[in-house]
Amino acid sequence: MIIVLLGPPGAGKGTQGDRLSERCGLPRYATGDILREAVRLKTRLGLEAKSYMDKGELVPDEVVLGLVRDLLGSADAKDGFILDGFPRTVAQAEGLKALLEDQGRKLDAAIYFDVSEDELIRRLSGRRVCPDCGAVYNVHTEPPAVPGRCDVCGGRLETREDDKDIATLRNRLRVYRESTEPLLEWYGRDDSTLHKLYAAGSVDDVYERLLKVVGCS
Ligand code: AP5
Repeated sequence: MIIVLLGPPGAGKGTQGDRLSERCGLPRYATGDILREAVRLKTRLGLEAKSYMDKGELVPDEVVLGLVRDLLGSADAKDGFILDGFPRTVAQAEGLKALLEDQGRKLDAAIYFDVSEDELIRRLSGRRVCPDCGAVYNVHTEPPAVPGRCDVCGGRLETREDDKDIATLRNRLRVYRESTEPLLEWYGRDDSTLHKLYAAGSVDDVYERLLKVVGCS
């Protein structure tokens, strides 16, 4: 199964994508996570991506498409995968379609996470991440047992660089509306591919709704 998770920053794509990946036994490829790791390691990709990410802008299409081309060619992608945060532009969606066609495959589902803007700001401003193991928390809704410490590995929790100030948060939402929202129309041309998921409510409630859409047992 090949699944795309679409939606604004903070909609819960990573949170739900992680659960779905485990349940379906499919790898989750999150372009944001891969780019952040490249920034941390100061690789050529990371140095190129950093200035865009810090401002909440999109990394250029050709850079991200190159990254996804490599992922799709890897052995663990052969039985399907979940793409989280990609595609984000119509050019990326067209690129993905062409890459899949080259492999004789096609997308099964694009799932759009629908959440109000007020809730997105609340989720993003409350998000804390563990730099050591990648676990994600939320001070409002999913707090760690010990404030500031990761439940999984005890690491010191941090606020993501692009979650730190409200101007960057708002810019990410603007970029989403301008560049990514048109994908709803693009994927919506085929009713069987696009699924709208009401993504407000608790993590468990959203997951239950998601499983009804994906039906991976
Ligand atoms: P990326 O890392 O993809 O960030 P994003 O799209 O902004 O998405 P987020 O990770 O912020 O949100 P999410 O939907 O995964 O929410 P989460 O589950 O964490 O991209 C970062 C940057 O990289 C981009 O700005 C861009 O520069 C670059 N980039 C990445 N991909 C690119 C591409 N394809 N093209 C070009 N550039 C690209 O949840 C958020 C918080 O809410 C968490 O604290 C969580 O605990 C909480 N939460 C989740 N669900 C619920 C719930 N149901 N109720 C209450 N709280 C919840």
